[in-house]
Amino acid sequence: MVSEGREATLRRFGIVPSVAELLRAALDDAVERAEAGRRAAGEAPPALVVLDAGCGRSSALARHRTRIGRFVGVDIHVPAPGALPYLDEFAAVDLCAGADAFPPATFDVVLSSFTVEHLADPGAAFANLARWLRPGGSLVLTTVNRRHPFVAAYLAMPAWARQRIQPVVKACAADVHPLVGACNDPAALRAALAASRYEDVRVATVGHLARAWGRRLPAFALGLAGDLLARGIPSRRSTLVITARAPERAA
Ligand SMILES: C[S@@+](CC[C@H](N)C(=O)[O-])C[C@H]1O[C@@H](n2cnc3c(N)ncnc32)[C@H](O)[C@@H]1O
Repeated sequence: MVSEGREATLRRFGIVPSVAELLRAALDDAVERAEAGRRAAGEAPPALVVLDAGCGRSSALARHRTRIGRFVGVDIHVPAPGALPYLDEFAAVDLCAGADAFPPATFDVVLSSFTVEHLADPGAAFANLARWLRPGGSLVLTTVNRRHPFVAAYLAMPAWARQRIQPVVKACAADVHPLVGACNDPAALRAALAASRYEDVRVATVGHLARAWGRRLPAFALGLAGDLLARGIPSRRSTLVITARAPERAA
């Protein structure tokens, strides 16, 4: 998160909405829908079952904690004891490989925030998430967009060069993860989601470089330049916020 002053600068330059605002709206909608579905099925009060896939060290779903009956997080890295107090369960699962980690139709809502760009096989992960979601359940994704020239340049760098840059733009070393970017533009993501039969796929694009890099002034300024470069070209903005629904009927 950037300082209030930098946030005000971004708003003055029209770098709105933020990813956080879009994500909040998408998750509010997903939770409302899931609750309505459970109420219609006779459950009162509804107790949602949700998954944060690639849960890292924070979750945008945590603000809905009081409406969630079972909150599960998965990641390839095990968190320190007590680090994610809002979770009921944590499981060490590789999203691309752990097909049997959960029974089919377990979750009402799945969030996967800034994780897709790290996956070796996003198609396999989307198929797993589709299976673990209840029919019609909501998937909410955020990830980076290769169609932004800075993102494309960053992903094209050799790993050693990225490793040098990441500690400068990231908040701390724990946020530095290997990047793959196998499925990181709107068309590739739509195709991968369609292959797993997701429905009602919606892709929003937003400028997020200055906010993501904004703790240090030079990185903030570079990010702002990048966000302004793509402000008028939606398909090239740096970041994607995607919503989709699991197929109503199993394959
Ligand atoms: C940039 S962090 C995002 C963390 C958190 N979702 C957030 O928005 O703050 C990416 C996370 O994805 C996890 N990750 C990377 N590859 C994964 C995989 N194959 N399966 C599960 N998690 C993975 C990383 O360990 C890391 O915690």
